Amino acid sequence: MSAPIIVSLLGVASAAAAAASSLHPRLQDGLAQTPPMGWNTYNHYNCYPNETIVRTNAQALVELGLDKLGYRYVTTDCGWSVADRLPDGSLTWNATLFPQGFPALGEYLHELGLLFGVYGDAGILLCGSPPNNTGNLYDNCYSDAATNYPDVNYAPTTSPAPHYATMSRALAALNRTVLFQICDWGVDFPARWAPALGHTWRIGNDILPAWRSIYRIINQAAPQTDVAGPGQWPDLDMLEVGNGVLSVAEEQTHFSLWGILKSPLVIGAALREASEASLAVLMQADVIAFNQDRLGKSARLRRRWSEAGYEVWSGPLAGGRTVAALVNWWNESRALTLELPDIGLQFAGNVRNVWAEGSSVADEGVRTRYTATVPGHGTMLLELGATQPRGEYRREWFAETKGNSTTFSPIYALTTSNNYTLTLTLARPVSTATAIRIDTGNNSMATTLTIPSQTTTLTTPIVLDVATTALTIHHPSQLNITTIHLTPPTGTYHPSTTFTLSGSATLTPCAEGFCLPVGSKIGYLSETGLATHTIAVSTGGTKYVELDYINNDIAFESAWEEGRNARNLTISVNGGVPVRLEVPLSGRHSELFGPGLGWWDTATLGVSVDGWKEGANEVVVGNVGGAEGVVSWGADFVGMRVFD
Ligand SMILES: *[C@@H]1O[C@H](CO)[C@@H](O)[C@H](O)[C@H]1NC(C)=O
Ligand SMILES: *[C@@H]1O[C@H](CO)[C@@H](O)[C@H](O)[C@H]1NC(C)=O
Ligand SMILES: *[C@@H]1O[C@H](CO)[C@@H](O)[C@H](O)[C@H]1NC(C)=O
Ligand SMILES: *[C@@H]1O[C@H](CO)[C@@H](O)[C@H](O)[C@H]1NC(C)=O
Ligand SMILES: *[C@@H]1O[C@H](CO)[C@@H](O)[C@H](O)[C@H]1NC(C)=O
Ligand SMILES: *[C@@H]1O[C@H](CO)[C@@H](O)[C@H](O)[C@H]1NC(C)=O
Ligand SMILES: *[C@@H]1O[C@H](CO)[C@@H](O)[C@H](O)[C@H]1NC(C)=O
Ligand SMILES: *[C@@H]1O[C@H](CO)[C@@H](O)[C@H](O)[C@H]1NC(C)=O
Ligand SMILES: *[C@@H]1O[C@H](CO)[C@@H](O)[C@H](O)[C@H]1NC(C)=O
Ligand SMILES: *[C@@H]1O[C@H](CO)[C@@H](O)[C@H](O)[C@H]1NC(C)=O
Repeated sequence: MSAPIIVSLLGVASAAAAAASSLHPRLQDGLAQTPPMGWNTYNHYNCYPNETIVRTNAQALVELGLDKLGYRYVTTDCGWSVADRLPDGSLTWNATLFPQGFPALGEYLHELGLLFGVYGDAGILLCGSPPNNTGNLYDNCYSDAATNYPDVNYAPTTSPAPHYATMSRALAALNRTVLFQICDWGVDFPARWAPALGHTWRIGNDILPAWRSIYRIINQAAPQTDVAGPGQWPDLDMLEVGNGVLSVAEEQTHFSLWGILKSPLVIGAALREASEASLAVLMQADVIAFNQDRLGKSARLRRRWSEAGYEVWSGPLAGGRTVAALVNWWNESRALTLELPDIGLQFAGNVRNVWAEGSSVADEGVRTRYTATVPGHGTMLLELGATQPRGEYRREWFAETKGNSTTFSPIYALTTSNNYTLTLTLARPVSTATAIRIDTGNNSMATTLTIPSQTTTLTTPIVLDVATTALTIHHPSQLNITTIHLTPPTGTYHPSTTFTLSGSATLTPCAEGFCLPVGSKIGYLSETGLATHTIAVSTGGTKYVELDYINNDIAFESAWEEGRNARNLTISVNGGVPVRLEVPLSGRHSELFGPGLGWWDTATLGVSVDGWKEGANEVVVGNVGGAEGVVSWGADFVGMRVFD
């Protein structure tokens, strides 16, 4: 629920000037340059707000110093109005619940330096009715055929967008700018139309006071992280932090992800009842700074290890910094490792581990990987600065020279392959052709080379195994190597059209420009509905594989239960144990209209699969074990890139 219309104090509104060229033109009124922050009645008080509730929580915001941290919009959610409109057609507040009235409440909030928000509804009645409070076309309750507006069963199949356009125009006609937070529970992929009408849009159904909501919601956020930006923010819904339903580690995960995915941060707790630990989460200054970072770019999902129960999100911050969140989905404390290359980095001169008391690793920096204990359901949230890009190993940080050999470590090998590219850079040219030997701790993979005279760089193919951790170069002692650069192979692509189908598996063509890069996809993968292909590789071992998949199985009604916005795919090589990857949504179109109803939009996620042998391999894609999952069909499969 909850879609507040918030009246700000920022002056005159300018009408939306839609830039026709962009995918999602946004409202150009200067509001919400960073995600809005505030407090809202709904998550704690449901549709039963009253004046005391709003005033005491507003007071608490100020007394606790939350206002200074940015929490300023105070919104009264559903339940504030009366059933009937006034003779002039306007809605009014329930005077039993708000005896001093809304104007006085607004003045009170403004005197505290806060901003006043109110909730409305796009259906014929407000959420939380009875009493049958009249709606004003804003949230999504009581929308139905009578309003020519889709209900929770998507009937009729009508876009909600025009209703929000009506409200947007009405707000634009006011003599002040108004923050407009659109909530249609994500129906009709609002990332495509809501930025033109308002400042934030709910991406899906409500958050529940339950841990399982977190995974469902971020799986829905995954395909639209790139849409976040100044003036337009995907809304993951209000926070459950402080409501006593999540452990502290879970609250940290919830807050971290909402923060770095640039959701509005709207507290939904009774502040005077919230624990010290929960308040500390809400007041964590680094997370707030990540959320409010002036670059305004969202983190995105980089890797997910479904079998091992963790995943990594990361994104850029202003000043060349990076934020990364490694989430521990298992409910047990354990040491987990962030491989910096998985977030595009090789080295970080400084790292702050936000939830570990802000502990920082300063002097020697972090090379290649960072390991820390992460509590059950907790998150390793890192801010990384002074970074070097993936593949770049500078001598000063990575190398040790002993006599006539230089060893670089720790090395990261994404995949086992004889097709890495090594580029070696010298401080000064060699005067004569110079022989060197490259050794990765495995004699059968050693390489002997000659650096031509008068050159400072040398590029060569090289063999690396995923187990490789160090690379030693034997060389005449006067040779001064400054950097090595390692580039993994680009891999070989195997489109779904080359796979052999069995059981329910079906190849379906898509319209031109969809199901990229193949133009068709395999659906109805299951326990026994499989796609099989023989893939030849030049080295055996463990390989990184990227799956191009499609999933638009939106958890709407199932959001109340176990809906996850996810589907599984399994890959098995040469009859080995299938490796499971649970993929988030990929759809970037409306599920009501338009190209493929979101079922033609490809996304990519990688996974490591072992059991490869040199020569031909039988590779099977399916949803083995899917019968035990929430959804027995796998995600649709477009193609696979094997990094050999
Ligand atoms: C306001 O809500 C609080 C908390 O639910 C309740 O204790 C109080 O009686 C309510 N006041 C009014 C005037 O309804
Ligand atoms: C105002 O709220 C009270 C308490 O929920 C309710 O009993 C009453 O019917 C409401 N008044 C109107 C006019 O809706
Ligand atoms: C609300 O509206 C429904 C249908 O219009 C009606 O049956 C019901 O009596 C109304 N309830 C109240 C409290 O007015
Ligand atoms: C619009 O707002 C400005 C500045 O607050 C004020 O001077 C002006 O009178 C307002 N105009 C109307 C029509 O309310
Ligand atoms: C996680 O573990 C804690 C401590 O063992 C337990 O209290 C809690 O119920 C568990 N949470 C879930 C969701 O299983
Ligand atoms: C290698 O070259 C770098 C950069 O020119 C220099 O700083 C360093 O002292 C040299 N080291 C050796 C052992 O010659
Ligand atoms: C050495 O490399 C070869 C070829 O990649 C591989 O088969 C073998 O297992 C490796 N040996 C060790 C000890 O890593
Ligand atoms: C490195 O030094 C050792 C003796 O210390 C020698 O046996 C070897 O040939 C040297 N290698 C190179 C590449 O210079
Ligand atoms: C080796 O890698 C290069 C560049 O990444 C690529 O162009 C080439 O096709 C690869 N060769 C094989 C055999 O995979
Ligand atoms: C994916 O597989 C796991 C393990 O079998 C299962 O718990 C989960 O529910 C599955 N997810 C879906 C969406 O089916």
